[in-house]
Amino acid sequence: MSSALERREELKAVFHEAQSCVRCPQLAAGRTTVVFGSGNADADLMFVGEAPGANEDKQGVPFVGQAGKLLDQLLGEIGLTRADVFVVNTLKCRPPGNRDPLPQELDNCQDYLYRQLELIEPKVVCTLGNFATKLLRGDPTGITRLHGRDEERQIGPRRVRLYPIYHPAAALYTRSMLDILRADFQRIPELLALPALD
Ligand code: URA
Repeated sequence: MSSALERREELKAVFHEAQSCVRCPQLAAGRTTVVFGSGNADADLMFVGEAPGANEDKQGVPFVGQAGKLLDQLLGEIGLTRADVFVVNTLKCRPPGNRDPLPQELDNCQDYLYRQLELIEPKVVCTLGNFATKLLRGDPTGITRLHGRDEERQIGPRRVRLYPIYHPAAALYTRSMLDILRADFQRIPELLALPALD
């Protein structure tokens, strides 16, 4: 593969390409920003959420609202910050009224996610909640059954350790879910210490 510097330059090119994306006319017309993803372009750990909400759409950065604050707190508890990881969503643009992404929109956007995986080369991909988990596994099994279980998976161009956990937004108001999410988070350092699969 190319050097870290080349990969970073290529990632910037993909970022710029995404800024003017009109593959989903309704999303392109309604968005304030394209929320490409943010963090460390050499991260071993990537988080995949669902889609930008109102705050993310305004600021152009994923997970900046309440769920993002919880994500930061949980990262801190395992000795990490946003600067150590890369955070993306399955969709780069906010669906109107925060509706679920449509299959065609996910299809249109998938190429950006695959290119991010190819260029960032994470070892562990952590899907947040049902939506990203089902999409990346290509299977309807839900997060209640899958959370906290890592598995080897081919995601587009990359073989990774996939690690589904609850979405932080779901854990904001339910104590029992927060406890589970926190316990699942505690396993992340152990997964990061395993050899890369690709
Ligand atoms: N929820 C998500 O799934 N993604 C964000 O960026 C914010 C909230």
